[in-house]
Amino acid sequence: MDRLTGSARLMIVSDLDHTMVDHHDPENLSILRFNALWEAKYRHDSLLVFSTGRSPTLYKQLRKEKPMLTPDITIMSVGTEITYGNAMVPDDGWVDFLNHKWDKKIVTEETSKFPELTLQSETEQRPHKASFYVKKEKAQEIMTNLSESLVKQGLDVKIIYSGGMDLDILPQGAGKGQALAYLHKKLKAEGKLPQNTLACGDSGNDAELFTIPDVHGVMVKNAQEELLQWHAENAKDNPKIIHADERCAAGIIQAIGHFKLGPNTSPRDLPDLLDAKLDHFDPAYEVVKFYLFLERWRRAEVETPEHYLNNLKAVFSPAGLYVNPFGIEQSFDDVIGKLKDCYGDKKGKQYRVWVDQVFPVQIDSNTWLVKFKKLDQTGEEQQCCYTTAILSSKDVEPSQGLAWVHVHQTWMDGSTSDAKDWFL
Ligand code: GLC
Ligand code: MG
Repeated sequence: MDRLTGSARLMIVSDLDHTMVDHHDPENLSILRFNALWEAKYRHDSLLVFSTGRSPTLYKQLRKEKPMLTPDITIMSVGTEITYGNAMVPDDGWVDFLNHKWDKKIVTEETSKFPELTLQSETEQRPHKASFYVKKEKAQEIMTNLSESLVKQGLDVKIIYSGGMDLDILPQGAGKGQALAYLHKKLKAEGKLPQNTLACGDSGNDAELFTIPDVHGVMVKNAQEELLQWHAENAKDNPKIIHADERCAAGIIQAIGHFKLGPNTSPRDLPDLLDAKLDHFDPAYEVVKFYLFLERWRRAEVETPEHYLNNLKAVFSPAGLYVNPFGIEQSFDDVIGKLKDCYGDKKGKQYRVWVDQVFPVQIDSNTWLVKFKKLDQTGEEQQCCYTTAILSSKDVEPSQGLAWVHVHQTWMDGSTSDAKDWFL
């Protein structure tokens, strides 16, 4: 959070499963569209918050499977665990607050008296969250009885039903909505309350996100019955909450447009990237655009390859140097040669490229140093390199885009460093 010196222009607080991540979209197109929009237009002055029911274990697993960006803040286990930054530093103040009228042992004892409750996996049982499966038909009755018996034991809990099967028991002060309110309060105390906040969700545990004051909300098209019912009963006339007619991340992009929160055209939606001309230099946009080009190039989805290549030659400075993650230096001449060779080498494969945490810093009047992670995925396999690029506005027009002067890459931990087909 300290990354921003003032208020975020936009804070997006999004659920993951079936909201940011579409499990019925094997090509992951809607999240990739969101990623390109976020990195090109929002990353530098906005905050991305993921708020998931998953425990840290299952959250990390999802990150390996899907092309997810790195959020600034991660809220896990249904608003019971808040962490900051890439290192995921826990918010201990939040943990202390949740201990109020909470005793996990009593919850375990009481719930064992309900045979209709099936315990979820061990990873999903957390210090301030007990999770079960329960059949839809039984859910309402069990919740009422369980609530009574826990009150009798002196506890103050919140019971949430999600996805037509999951039942979570949390301290009363916990939950996704309360975690968001806590973050708002914290940011406000630092004079950094976001100018706009957009909450995004699809199921029962997301409902309370939409009750936080001054928050715009989007229920994605594929929202669960329990969330739509909550909305019909509690927030029907609130114009700040919409039910999108697009699924998952595409619904989030739709909401950005609907509430006029900022740019809402993803660079991925531009059929011809050469048409995407700007009247000013924009290094983050440049990086996003280049890697989209690289994906299309290797998938053989560029209609006029010669045209692109000429454009590229004009912006890849002849004296430029690429230090690849194996530590080998290549001139930009060699890079262009290699590019020619790899046209279409990923055709027909599930090959996607995206960039994460694109941070440009201007180092002199016409030079930018841009740091980012470049990732690609063919089928299930993800690879990632920390990348540093130097871009220059010397001798180029904004309509041509910035000139690339230097690119340096280093494998990120866990990436397959023997990857033969890694390029740029
Ligand atoms: C996630 C969690 C699960 C929880 C559910 C609903 O699936 O893994 O424990 O019950 O979200 O909140
Ligand atoms: Mg969900």
